[in-house]
Amino acid sequence: MVKLFEPLALRGVTLKNRIVVSPMCQYSAEDGFANDWHLVHLGSRAVGGAGLIIQEATAVSFEGRISPEDLGIWKDEHLPMLRRITDFIVAQGSVPGIQLAHAGRKASTYRPWSGAGEVPLNAGGWPVVGPGDAAFADDYPRPEALDAAGIKKVISDFRAAAGRALAAGYQVVELHAAHGYLLHEFLSPLSNQRTDEYGGSFENRVRLLLEVVAATREMWPDELPLIVRLSATDWTEGGWNADESVQLAALLKTRGVDLIDCSTGGNVPKAPIPVGPGYQVQFAGRIKAEAGIMTGAVGLITTPAEAEAILANGQADLVLLAREFLREPYFPLTAAQELGVEIEWPAQYERAKPRA
Ligand SMILES: Cc1cc2nc3c(=O)[nH]c(=O)nc-3n(C[C@H](O)[C@H](O)[C@H](O)COP(=O)(O)O)c2cc1C
Repeated sequence: MVKLFEPLALRGVTLKNRIVVSPMCQYSAEDGFANDWHLVHLGSRAVGGAGLIIQEATAVSFEGRISPEDLGIWKDEHLPMLRRITDFIVAQGSVPGIQLAHAGRKASTYRPWSGAGEVPLNAGGWPVVGPGDAAFADDYPRPEALDAAGIKKVISDFRAAAGRALAAGYQVVELHAAHGYLLHEFLSPLSNQRTDEYGGSFENRVRLLLEVVAATREMWPDELPLIVRLSATDWTEGGWNADESVQLAALLKTRGVDLIDCSTGGNVPKAPIPVGPGYQVQFAGRIKAEAGIMTGAVGLITTPAEAEAILANGQADLVLLAREFLREPYFPLTAAQELGVEIEWPAQYERAKPRA
């Protein structure tokens, strides 16, 4: 049996296969609103047969956007277009997921094709927040350290966003606690030097994430799965590391989190990352084995054989693909053919299905 096309039950949701569209910012929204681009982009990958599609980092607040063009879910007005997207994905037999995000001190930056670093206040930028007042890099904005009221607002923004995600028809929420954005900034001692109950010890650094998980679960029903994306390591001495990720994953499992999406890096500019095929898979394997929680593997997985091997070796329960899905929206359809698995094609495309 080919594992890649085995269904996976996550609480009350069943994915038809193990192939996931990894969240990818499209930097194409205005005031957080989704539009035809997002419908066609995500819809194409649903037509292409992905089991789960995790929508890009979607800001829980205006100030939590990475760039001015990020998607958002901080007001009810955002919902109708998001509902169109989820309805379309569901109609293709795929599952719509959403990544809820706050960019922290990496907010208010240019989208890749419009510039680099900080968008100044007089060019549409906004004041940013973080665990402390140190900037991510020289050309990034200097954040204001969150005070107790600011932390409360972050938690309540995630809670409200989870409620809206439900109303918009998403069936999976992924909390973005990776890549040097706000929740990761609190986890890592390199970005979190607070002296209150949110900084210092492991227990204090993970506190914000655990509180966000609890607030999310208040709105997100028991029948629906909750995923957390972690950067399993900062790849930097003295930073967040794989041992702490294992410890955190075990804690998250007891707090209603079903699966850890195992990425790395993003919190330290120019960290020495040994990029290569499947370079992050080891972390999915370790967290799955040592924390006893389901995992997703991501990072330079580009072929059906690689994806299948990760599952067959027991290193992960899901494989997430990002850039390969930009090259090939129909990856699952062609992967099935390559691995000799019979799957249904969209009826509209049936006449193009290769016959043995
Ligand atoms: C265009 C683009 C946008 C991305 N946006 C996000 C995002 O919104 N949230 C996130 O967690 N990761 C984001 N990523 C990272 C991917 O989800 C993925 O982890 C990374 O690209 C490695 O997978 P790959 O080698 O299959 O591309 C993005 C990557 C790309 C290429």
